[in-house]
Amino acid sequence: MKLSVIGAGYVGLTTAACLAQVGHDVFCSESDVEKLSKLRNGVMPLFEPHLENVIEAVRKSGQLHFGSTEEAIAWGDAIFICVGTPPLPNGDADLSSIEGVARAIAKRATGYRLVIEKSTVPVQTGAQLSKHLSVHGTNGLKYDVASNPEFLREGTSVEDFLHPDRIVVGADSTRAADLLREIYEPIVKQRFTCPIHSNSQKRKDPVFLATDTNSAELIKHASNSFLAMKISFINMVANLCEAVGADITQVAHGMGLDPRIGPAFLNPGIGFGGFCFPKDVQAFIRIAEKSGCDFSLLKEVDRINQGRIERFVEQVRTELWVLRGKKIAVWGLAFKPNTDDVRFAPALSIIRRLQAEGAHIQAYDPQAMEKACKEISDITYCSDAYKAAHGVDAVLLLTEWEEFRNVDWSRLAALVERPLIIDGRNTLSREEVVANGFHYIGVGGVSATPKVTASFIGT
Ligand code: UGA
Repeated sequence: MKLSVIGAGYVGLTTAACLAQVGHDVFCSESDVEKLSKLRNGVMPLFEPHLENVIEAVRKSGQLHFGSTEEAIAWGDAIFICVGTPPLPNGDADLSSIEGVARAIAKRATGYRLVIEKSTVPVQTGAQLSKHLSVHGTNGLKYDVASNPEFLREGTSVEDFLHPDRIVVGADSTRAADLLREIYEPIVKQRFTCPIHSNSQKRKDPVFLATDTNSAELIKHASNSFLAMKISFINMVANLCEAVGADITQVAHGMGLDPRIGPAFLNPGIGFGGFCFPKDVQAFIRIAEKSGCDFSLLKEVDRINQGRIERFVEQVRTELWVLRGKKIAVWGLAFKPNTDDVRFAPALSIIRRLQAEGAHIQAYDPQAMEKACKEISDITYCSDAYKAAHGVDAVLLLTEWEEFRNVDWSRLAALVERPLIIDGRNTLSREEVVANGFHYIGVGGVSATPKVTASFIGT
């Protein structure tokens, strides 16, 4: 099918590349001229595992094209809107980009189009979109509006798109639902050449769930808010562990063994960041408020999350006493590993706080330094973890990149001024770190010299 994707951010690019990979003819547009020119010249504007290879292959086979919004609107029978919905100061999602695209579609499209919102939007946006298309539509445009929320995680977005647990489509007409089923057929049946796995690796077929539009929109916001709630919950349990002398690693493991709870999203740390959870929680609170529901539970989730930064900085202060003049290494800047995205990254908030108290930061991240540099320019960016640790009073681990787990600790011990590791993600082997002479502080009562080593039964 001929498909258009408007917006070439993490979601749009992955959607366009993967839909082309499973056999569709896709046109992807981007309004940022610099980004568009990069894409047309085969240069990736962002780091996302596997995405570059997929894009290269589908461009070669002629199934993916890049260009303007106008060209995209003229191209597809179905148009996926993947533009940003950043937060406004009051927490509402800013829908002006979506409105702009709707206006362009209304003005330029002819015949029948299925307009699909894939950006995360408040419930009832579909209805607004529909109204807008009908008010501004010229050229005898006929259309359906559908919601198809994405559940992609940055860092694994290609894998998540091609092998999802569920595909949710919200449509209020049979024609729209049938078209979406056709678009996703290769993925639902897992019939395509997978760029990541060999074809012999059988994978579970995803669930295709068709709902009404409002419900699909709510599924997305409710899912992200629920996951955020899980993180804030475990972070509060971590605080309790610190207060009573328990170990969060053991507590979270024990909780996660209950299949009703599950082990995912029970990793405590410096809080959730990124361009999704913080803004989606805020937006969901606002949606509830506007609908007359007091979702104060989510306000707590947000409050707890914001408190993670100060709590971590306090921990650093407790260890280093005076921060002024101290040299501190920061390992990890991205909001999570395997991405170069630093939007709402807790690491950047922590750096700003430490800087404000006069600390000198030496930072290293495997992928995110170029983007971090645009946010914070007055720290020292280093080319590896060892250089960042040179002469420091403490090493702070703020993003759990795999390479930090493989550091040569004895080499590191010879470089630092003081052998202190504060692990904001509980990701390092404390035994290994301590064996090399470091004092180790993790989150949630995870001490340098644990008295009890848990023996876990089962997984
Ligand atoms: C999230 C959702 O997981 C996706 O399903 C959704 O599609 C996406 O938002 C979106 O709305 O676009 P993402 O933001 O890429 O994906 O990252 P996650 O892996 O969910 O992590 C979010 C934040 O929570 C990160 O800062 C991470 O470090 C933190 N986190 C996650 C924890 O602190 N503890 C955990 O146990 C898990």
